[in-house]
Amino acid sequence: MRILVYPGSFDPVTNGHLDIIERAAKICDKLIVAVLVNRNKAPVFSIEERVALLKEVLDGKPNIEIAAFSGLLVDFMKKKGANTIIKGLRAVSDFEYEFQMALLNKHLDNNIETLFMMTGINYSYLSSSAVRELASHGGNIKGLVPDIIIDRIYKKFEENRK
Ligand code: PNS
Repeated sequence: MRILVYPGSFDPVTNGHLDIIERAAKICDKLIVAVLVNRNKAPVFSIEERVALLKEVLDGKPNIEIAAFSGLLVDFMKKKGANTIIKGLRAVSDFEYEFQMALLNKHLDNNIETLFMMTGINYSYLSSSAVRELASHGGNIKGLVPDIIIDRIYKKFEENRK
């Protein structure tokens, strides 16, 4: 069974992530969306919130699993019996960081392969941090994230302002 693991912070999930998830799910038997619990910088959305948003958006997609992980990605993958990472690549600016991560993961576990999927042209400018920036100032995020989670994102930033 071909398992792909799509790791990230998903703080929050964007339409760019969804584009990769939907396309990646077509070329494997099972796609595991792996949501990183801890980051050096505290995320805006808790791990429970980030997983819940993904679950809502991906509801009913049969070969997609959403799982939280902490620690090293390669250790999580071993537990899941997976050896292939899939990542989206936007601009040249993503390359250096992704290249480093792919090589470090290979250093940690030589069985790990990292595949890159070019982002959809409409999403090449899109990132979770841009969505957070816009939403925190009340900017329009329609078209950047799934419609069904827009209100939740604004609400989160309203709560944070209180
Ligand atoms: O969406 P992001 O924040 O770019 O995703 C980064 C992520 C989660 C893929 C990366 O930080 C990660 O895999 N972290 C877990 C720790 C790890 O295994 N690091 C890579 C080897 S140093």
